[in-house]
Amino acid sequence: MEMLQVNNVTKIYEGKVSYRALSDITMTIEQGEFVGIMGPSGSGKTTLLNMVSTIDSPTSGEVLINGKNPHRLKKGELARFRRRELGFVFQHFNLLDTLTVRENIVLPLTLDGASVKEMDEKVSVVAKNLGIVPILDKRTYEISGGQSQRTAIARAIIHAPKLLLADEPTGNLDSKASRDVLETMQKINQTVGTTMMMVTHDPLAASYCDRVIFIKDGELFNEIHRGENRQAFFQKIIDVLSLLGGNAHDLSSVRV
Ligand SMILES: Nc1ncnc2c1ncn2[C@@H]1O[C@H](COP(=O)(O)OP(=O)(O)O)[C@@H](O)[C@H]1O
Ligand SMILES: [Mg+2]
Repeated sequence: MEMLQVNNVTKIYEGKVSYRALSDITMTIEQGEFVGIMGPSGSGKTTLLNMVSTIDSPTSGEVLINGKNPHRLKKGELARFRRRELGFVFQHFNLLDTLTVRENIVLPLTLDGASVKEMDEKVSVVAKNLGIVPILDKRTYEISGGQSQRTAIARAIIHAPKLLLADEPTGNLDSKASRDVLETMQKINQTVGTTMMMVTHDPLAASYCDRVIFIKDGELFNEIHRGENRQAFFQKIIDVLSLLGGNAHDLSSVRV
């Protein structure tokens, strides 16, 4: 089943000079898939993610999440839809530093009026999955970048969202912490089955995905699937990226 359908989405930013950031994008993400979105800076990755996360609306075309078009919902329904069906992870961890790790994680449940017992049970499960049980009672300034991002992921999945959206989740991490976070995301994807869409410019991060979609100048450029071997996939990603950045003439023949 398709968890996400993006159908002929175009986004034009209106202003003194209007700018076409996305042109007729069509793509799908299957339930349980972990998909990476790559492309040069300014190619429209964040714009695409914002259309899916409903932070912004397409100029034309439609987005369906689990068969529903969130852009058609009324304001209150939309807020509930986002809170229940989506999870967000950002480059800056967006944790509240007056709260403990545990309090940060349960925040979305608090907003939805869950019982203390229910919250405790859910925290135990996600904290175990993410390897952050020992730091649950620490404050955010006492933990590392990698631990902060794993805390942010815990908060993003505590309500079992249909779709986890991540924009450069390893953008602020060193390579060791990046690997830890990516391995954690992969594990969540494989064990819990959370569908994931991750924007990244980092080929290492992308190599953890099942599939990577490349965009250039707001248009779909290419997509490649991961086989058995992450190392080989990493090399393929590097190859496509070098084409993306390079001469645009012989791109139509790319098959990787
Ligand atoms: N709110 C906005 N208003 C006008 N132009 C924008 C806005 N947001 C992004 N853009 C432009 O749209 C293009 C795509 O931006 P973005 O989606 O952020 O790219 P990426 O995430 O791939 O770096 C860029 O040229 C950017 O300057
Ligand atoms: Mg961006």
